[in-house]
Amino acid sequence: MSNTSAISVRNVGVKFQSRDGLENQVLQGVDFDVQPGEFVSIVGQSGSGKTTLLKTISGLQEATEGEVLIKDKPIASQLEGIAMVFQGPVLLPWRNNLNNVLLPLEFRHKRDKASEQRAIELLEMAGLAGQESRYSYELSGGMQQRVAICRALVSNPELLLMDEPFGALDAMTRDTMNFELQKIWMREKCSVLFVTHSISEAVWLGDRVIIVGDRPGHIVADIKIDIPRPRAKSHRYSDEFSNYVTEIESYIGVTASIS
Ligand SMILES: Nc1ncnc2c1ncn2[C@@H]1O[C@H](COP(=O)(O)OP(=O)(O)OP(=O)(O)O)[C@@H](O)[C@H]1O
Ligand SMILES: [Mg+2]
Repeated sequence: MSNTSAISVRNVGVKFQSRDGLENQVLQGVDFDVQPGEFVSIVGQSGSGKTTLLKTISGLQEATEGEVLIKDKPIASQLEGIAMVFQGPVLLPWRNNLNNVLLPLEFRHKRDKASEQRAIELLEMAGLAGQESRYSYELSGGMQQRVAICRALVSNPELLLMDEPFGALDAMTRDTMNFELQKIWMREKCSVLFVTHSISEAVWLGDRVIIVGDRPGHIVADIKIDIPRPRAKSHRYSDEFSNYVTEIESYIGVTASIS
């Protein structure tokens, strides 16, 4: 295995300037690495800068201090290998599931028979076999979000950035999605950065959990989760699991606003 990190976040700071000239330092001194194939969860209070951090890693937001390297190179030269999943699925209602999944490849003029086959396989893997020609209004919220995940995976990203992808789902669908995501990730072997408000979701999915504190956003702790894979749903009831959750809650301090 090479020593090259999938992501290197080097002392990153992000400062916004409001219209009245006031400065808002949102991130400061954020420094961590993600190894190839690693699943890293990120938790923190609302407003602590998690979305800003993901946007900075994806290149949508520029760091005002420090730098982000993807496989040791500046972000600008790496955009093709990165995919992002947002809180809502944002599917195009006039395209069927297959055509929604293939959209990123059409943008790059890379849609062909092989990629269509891959899209069909991804939908199957996400439990949506036979749903290729259905439209988003015919699907449940969880199914739509799975289509959005397939769309992110269709271009074989090396890096998958997920910003509360299951935030809008009910608890049962969310559990199923966690399970599906673990399966997909174990097969695809991409590196994942996964932002969530749910500490148990973060622990269950993550190889590590990074805790972001606020004002300005910074890393409070980076905890390795030593639970073997594949993880069963029942792992959530083990003592080691609840010990991790308790430890992370203690770092966040006020747990009331964390669901
Ligand atoms: N484009 C922007 N311009 C100015 N301020 C911004 C911008 N984007 C984010 N902020 C500010 O940065 C801070 C962090 O926002 P961010 O969306 O990163 O938080 P978050 O941790 O993702 O919160 P949540 O958990 O609620 O999604 C907030 O104070 C927000 O107002
Ligand atoms: Mg956010």
